[in-house]
Amino acid sequence: MSEQYAIECRGITKIFGGKVTANDHVDLQLKFGEILALLGENGSGKTTLMNMLSGIYRPDGGTIFVRGEEVFINSPVDAMNLGIGMIHQHFKLVNVFSAMDNIAIGTKGRRLSTAKMREKIREISSRFGLEVDPDKKIYDMSVSEKQTVEILKVLYRGSDILILDEPTAVLTPQETEKLFAILKKMRDEGKAIIIITHKLNEVMEISDRVSVLRKGKSVASVNTAETDELKLTELMVGHSVDLSIRRPETDKKDGVLKVSGLSVTGAEGMKMLKDVSFEVKGGEILGVAGVAGSGQKELCEAITGLIPFEQGSVKLEDTELKGKSPFEILNLGVSISFVPEDRLGMGLVSSMGITDNMLLRTYYKTPGLFIDRKPAKEMADKLIDRLQILTPGTETPVRLLSGGNVQKVLLGREIESAPRVLITAYAVRGLDINSSYAIYDLLNEQKEKGVAVLNIGEDLDVLLALCDRILVLCHGEVTGIVDAKNTTKEQLGLLMTGIKQEKEAAHV
Ligand SMILES: Nc1ncnc2c1ncn2[C@@H]1O[C@H](COP(=O)(O)OP(=O)(O)O)[C@@H](O)[C@H]1O
Ligand SMILES: [Mg+2]
Repeated sequence: MSEQYAIECRGITKIFGGKVTANDHVDLQLKFGEILALLGENGSGKTTLMNMLSGIYRPDGGTIFVRGEEVFINSPVDAMNLGIGMIHQHFKLVNVFSAMDNIAIGTKGRRLSTAKMREKIREISSRFGLEVDPDKKIYDMSVSEKQTVEILKVLYRGSDILILDEPTAVLTPQETEKLFAILKKMRDEGKAIIIITHKLNEVMEISDRVSVLRKGKSVASVNTAETDELKLTELMVGHSVDLSIRRPETDKKDGVLKVSGLSVTGAEGMKMLKDVSFEVKGGEILGVAGVAGSGQKELCEAITGLIPFEQGSVKLEDTELKGKSPFEILNLGVSISFVPEDRLGMGLVSSMGITDNMLLRTYYKTPGLFIDRKPAKEMADKLIDRLQILTPGTETPVRLLSGGNVQKVLLGREIESAPRVLITAYAVRGLDINSSYAIYDLLNEQKEKGVAVLNIGEDLDVLLALCDRILVLCHGEVTGIVDAKNTTKEQLGLLMTGIKQEKEAAHV
């Protein structure tokens, strides 16, 4: 019966620590020659299920069939021998090794000569359009290059069943397009592919079928052609949803954050920001759009005192921030939450629980001898409730939470410090729909409290719906500041590629 499937899961159950049921009798089928999207909110058990297919965890119940035969996958080597390869959310490459060395790791015993390896890598690369320099060291690579190495590694081992856990969360739209072209080629060659992504437009574009998990249970499998984004969202959350984003009216207060003539030079003498001027009013959300690497990071760092700048000024009302330390700037009320591309190193201590991470932040603001855990614990409880953070408790190490939950802790912590200026960068990176909307609500709430919010984003539709005005950066320059209510995505796109606006319209 199960002959036709590359993988079939029947009644798979996984319970962590006797408490958290991450997978509850999950059924899943994957065919050769198809791309299956695995969809579900943060914490719904997607990664856990995939980790059982790739030999990282063992199920507590249920059966896995590969090519129609019941299997016991006890280690990643078992998975590899079954032709299953997984590209994890956090890459598992050795930084100081070259791409080729990383590909060779674990193939001992049947290792080819260097020349043969090169030849094989070249053959796989050109077959699927994977662009990799085999001699380049991992630490010199962009996130997208590292991902390509991971894919190559899996293909090199002869996998024909590929699992990709949120591969696009770390990619630019252009890189995502490239990845999708590669995945489609693999599918057309008959490989079986599972992809996890929260972006519903990506699900609609790349997948043939979609399987949905909700709170650890399988709720539905549908053909992509027979569904749409709204239906998928409703399957995911279990009730009907409204996908519109609120943009409340507020009283604006001029000049809360004023940046004028800001220029920043990078490590190799490159101008990272050129004569950047703008203001963020109290009670508004100013969005920042731009292709990756247009100066967004430098802007955040210059405002918060993390990097020095040679020209220009940054003022919080009447106070000049230039020359102040990050600690002083934080204490003046400028908070930042920056979610990096790899979503690691987000400024939380991974071995500590949410309470201690709260404490760390408040302690940082008011250094003192005695630490009162109670307010921090209350704050942690409030956050868990408010943002629906899935955790066994406030003391569970943050590293055991899923990525999305970590992000909620991070932003929640900044908001709880009652800032005057809130800078958020890529706040919903990798988050599911529900969590993303919870974050938009939080930002709106801050705006309604009169906070000046600077929101650096990737999704233009979201920026246009959520923000009051949008500033566009291109190669470190401001190419326009537009009113979000009467601007189109196409106009933003043009500004992002450096086509400046007419002078009159430039300042709204
Ligand atoms: N090693 C672990 N120990 C304890 N709980 C875990 C562990 N891994 C995952 N979980 C919990 O299992 C649930 C499912 O997590 P996960 O599979 O990562 O979800 P998803 O990938 O859908 O976001 C979550 O509640 C998560 O906190
Ligand atoms: Mg996951």
